[in-house]
Amino acid sequence: MEDKIAIQSSRAAPPCTVVILGASGDLARRKLLPALYNLVHCGQGLMPAQSAVLGFARSQLSQEEFRNSSREAVQKYSRLKLDEGCWSRFSDSLFYLSGLDQPDGFKRLRERLEQIERERNLPPNRVFYLSIPPEAFNDCIARLSSEKLIAPPHAASFTHVVVEKPIGHDLASALEINRVLHEHLAESQIFRIDHYLGKETVQNLLVLRFANSIFERLWGARNVDHVQITVAEAEGVGTRAGYYDHSGALRDMVQNHMLQLLATLTMEAPVTLAASDVRESKLQVLRALRPIRGAEARDMTVRAQYTAGGAGAGKVPDYRSEKGVAPDSRTETFVALKMFVDNWRWSGVPFFLRTGKALKKRASSIVVQFKDVPRILFNRQGTLHSNLLTLRIQPDEGFSFDVVSKNPGLDVALKPVRMNLSYSSEFGADASPDAYERLLLDVMEGDHTLFPSADFVQTSWQFVQGVLDAWKDGEPIEDYAAGSWGPVGADQLIGTMGRKWHEP
Ligand code: BG6
Repeated sequence: MEDKIAIQSSRAAPPCTVVILGASGDLARRKLLPALYNLVHCGQGLMPAQSAVLGFARSQLSQEEFRNSSREAVQKYSRLKLDEGCWSRFSDSLFYLSGLDQPDGFKRLRERLEQIERERNLPPNRVFYLSIPPEAFNDCIARLSSEKLIAPPHAASFTHVVVEKPIGHDLASALEINRVLHEHLAESQIFRIDHYLGKETVQNLLVLRFANSIFERLWGARNVDHVQITVAEAEGVGTRAGYYDHSGALRDMVQNHMLQLLATLTMEAPVTLAASDVRESKLQVLRALRPIRGAEARDMTVRAQYTAGGAGAGKVPDYRSEKGVAPDSRTETFVALKMFVDNWRWSGVPFFLRTGKALKKRASSIVVQFKDVPRILFNRQGTLHSNLLTLRIQPDEGFSFDVVSKNPGLDVALKPVRMNLSYSSEFGADASPDAYERLLLDVMEGDHTLFPSADFVQTSWQFVQGVLDAWKDGEPIEDYAAGSWGPVGADQLIGTMGRKWHEP
């Protein structure tokens, strides 16, 4: 095959300081520090040696203690193995400051930043990563601003602020977060993280669609029967009940990750690959979503909660007996939706989305099922298998195409066969960077392509709010056994339209 064709080469980020607010938390340990280490890792060199990482949190830790706990985190969670040479370089650029909750904390932050910048001869390019609970966002941004830590958007040195989900609990709170962000920052300085957009397979969706002529010609109501999007997790709620029991699967997964997948799959070709064009094309899809309101929710949605069972990740108790979950909780750990994109391309094509915790296994995929061949020639009985394009997002990244073939032999017998591309066998097991590596690099470079815009957040919440309002009237909540593929209602949701879920 032809060699690689480079479209955009990743460049080293401009020298800067990444400040992680909430640096002693879980996200920093599991994702942010390992991702930054990987960017520094020998051979990648995407973070210039001058750059620094400053952990800022409430915990009283010495710099040494922070470096040691970061080393453990890297050892445990990094994609690339810890290399002593790289570690020592990374560790030298790693600093810590406590006092996030102290009245003079942000003043001390400014002084410490200025000192680091002086010592390392760094321009005041700053990334503030808010790895803190959403209730603390507003106060934190206001304090960054009052300490003059936010430079004007066109200043010679940049200030980029990264906010993690959840961005809001409902439409009103999401609008409020956007309002506060815009009070102190220009949209060009805000990076809202949706880590699904950093996944290699999700980025590849655009390449598959727009770098191959065969798929795009088939993409739409003329040829597609329906689409299934599954994001299945094997683990239960684990230690996150405090957050999750107030959120549920619709808010936690659909409002952000799954609507991003749907939009990336169905959007029109953007005019260019510029962030504004890509974001605009996605927004158009959201604006075309058919709202689900009031009584329609009974036909279009299913919500359910897991009961004890053996999930893929081991034994899981009843959701309501999990630590931190209210014993009478009505929070859904599974949701399925039937959706329509009411535009010319997708008119009438059902999209079935499902996501849940404590399911049979961790597996996320998109299945595009094409229309059946006519009931003539080989399909007189109407039993021929449909063509399926399956895009596997994780864990076995890749895609496959199911076609019908003649079974070799003297009989004329037909058999569905699968053409498969597995990322790990084609590109090697470690080829895919972690989503946070890609996204952190983009934040430093100021590239917004893989970050949801304020409009996307608002429009996705408008859709989700319709469903939440409909559920307020006592939408039933089903059970499903941990370790299954979800409740019976999810099979009925798709079954009433004569279709079946494909195992992801
Ligand atoms: C997060 C959700 O955004 O995504 C979690 O809050 C969920 O509940 C996680 O487990 C799934 O991410 P991934 O990358 O493991 O599929």
